[in-house]
Amino acid sequence: MHSLVFLCARQVIQDQVFACQALAFLPQELYAVLFKAAFLDRKTLVLQKLVQMWPFPLLSFHQLLRENSDCRRIPLQERPTKESVQAVILGLSARLREPPPRRKLQLQLLDMTGILDSGYEEDLTTMTMWSRTVSVIQTCIMGQLNKSLRQRRRRAKRRKAVPPIYTPTPIEVRVDLRVTHSSYGFLKDTLQTSAFSPLRLCCRDFRAEELPLNSTVDMLELLDPMHLRRVDLCFNSLELSGLCELMASIVKFNNLLSLKLQYSYVDLWQLSSEAEESFRLFITELNKLNRLRELNLGSSCLSGRLGQLLSALQDPLESLEVAFCYLLPTDLRYLAQSPHGPHLKKLDLSGNNLSGALLGPFQSVLKAVCVSLTLLNVTECELMDTHLLSTLPSLCRCVHLRYLGLYGNPLSTSGLKTLLVRSEVLSELQLVVYPFPVDCYEILPWPPPAAILLDEEKFAHVQAELRQMLLSADRTNVLWTTDVYGPNMPDYFSL
Ligand SMILES: *[C@@H]1O[C@H](CO)[C@@H](O)[C@H](O)[C@H]1NC(C)=O
Ligand SMILES: *[C@@H]1O[C@H](CO)[C@@H](O)[C@H](O)[C@H]1NC(C)=O
Ligand SMILES: *[C@@H]1O[C@H](CO)[C@@H](O)[C@H](O)[C@H]1NC(C)=O
Repeated sequence: MHSLVFLCARQVIQDQVFACQALAFLPQELYAVLFKAAFLDRKTLVLQKLVQMWPFPLLSFHQLLRENSDCRRIPLQERPTKESVQAVILGLSARLREPPPRRKLQLQLLDMTGILDSGYEEDLTTMTMWSRTVSVIQTCIMGQLNKSLRQRRRRAKRRKAVPPIYTPTPIEVRVDLRVTHSSYGFLKDTLQTSAFSPLRLCCRDFRAEELPLNSTVDMLELLDPMHLRRVDLCFNSLELSGLCELMASIVKFNNLLSLKLQYSYVDLWQLSSEAEESFRLFITELNKLNRLRELNLGSSCLSGRLGQLLSALQDPLESLEVAFCYLLPTDLRYLAQSPHGPHLKKLDLSGNNLSGALLGPFQSVLKAVCVSLTLLNVTECELMDTHLLSTLPSLCRCVHLRYLGLYGNPLSTSGLKTLLVRSEVLSELQLVVYPFPVDCYEILPWPPPAAILLDEEKFAHVQAELRQMLLSADRTNVLWTTDVYGPNMPDYFSL
């Protein structure tokens, strides 16, 4: 349902040229609702004009594009279109060219963060969109500044007088940046020039993919230590020595809340004495990040080292991702007793074999985190029906659980049905990602050699049964799916 104001705003922006002319005469209170409507309906001219005339010090995507009483839709989570984002940038550069009337408040901060946070697997179009956006900033600003400077100089020469130089008030543009090998060059240039341009690019979340260590370090040097919230390095294969080198650049970020080092392939199993020294160094540096709340060390071998790593932290973590980390029972026993337990909202233990000696400690971990946990991911953990059944009592104590990832476990239809019934007590549960049941495969034993062997007909039947069970229990608000990436999955954990 949309409010009457929202419906009117939508109507007003139908004719974009007219709406742009009318804008100066509309009350400022309507700018926010017009912005949301224009963003959703891709009315780029209106959007551009709105930014150019924005009468408040702050223009924040978070505030403007969220759910509100005017309109329930959340454009930020709908993967904003490239056109709309670019229109905002163009509006900004128009604003720099033409100073707004003096009586208007100056825009000080354009906060565009949050765009890339939507969903778990950010797709490539979002990335290209971002690269283009940055290049738009760069070209517009630099081009315009050079042009006006040249014109002024020419005029000054003619008049042989020194002109009063118009310097626009700097506007901070807060963004989340993603950099890959191909976008590294221009992003670096943009960051370097941004310090001297009227648009100060300021990074909140930084993500680098497959970027060599030296480039990553270079990039980190250019980021503002005050504002950086997350460093997310993916597929960097740093190994232990690289990690230590990197930490030296990371510790200056005093406000860092999140450090993600997935696929760094650090191997802490049986270290040489030299490597042992490096590891101690790493722990010392990690300890300096005293606001850290989220840590991801997925795909590194941490066997027997989790306690050493996490006890170095000053404050408890709220999110811990240690997927495919070859954890040992001692690691989970540490976690169950550590100060982190009652604070963990997100726990990812995927890819660790929980079916053997880890099962008991895993259940203790669940008891320790039950007051806080909202997201549990145990994808590909070798859990069979018996393991699941014995885990249900501890699992069902996690009353705030909203997401349960069970994909890739050898569970049967009967195990899944039991889970469905017993999880009724989890009133906040929204999404369960379940595996194709083992009894739907034509050839056993587990794991099946190829997905082709799935008995589609049998699986469709199971699916229908589960759906019917949810329906008769009046629990259609819970989505049971086998789709790991989920349809438009919301952020179950946010910083
Ligand atoms: C990083 O190192 C590689 C090879 O070692 C070199 O080709 C590249 O130019 C370096 N990049 C930077 C930004 O220093
Ligand atoms: C997982 O652990 C169980 C019990 O220790 C063992 O039998 C099984 O082979 C392990 N699975 C894998 C894939 O290593
Ligand atoms: C759960 O883990 C799997 C395997 O690592 C991963 O693909 C999936 O994205 C994770 N889900 C969430 C919600 O983090």
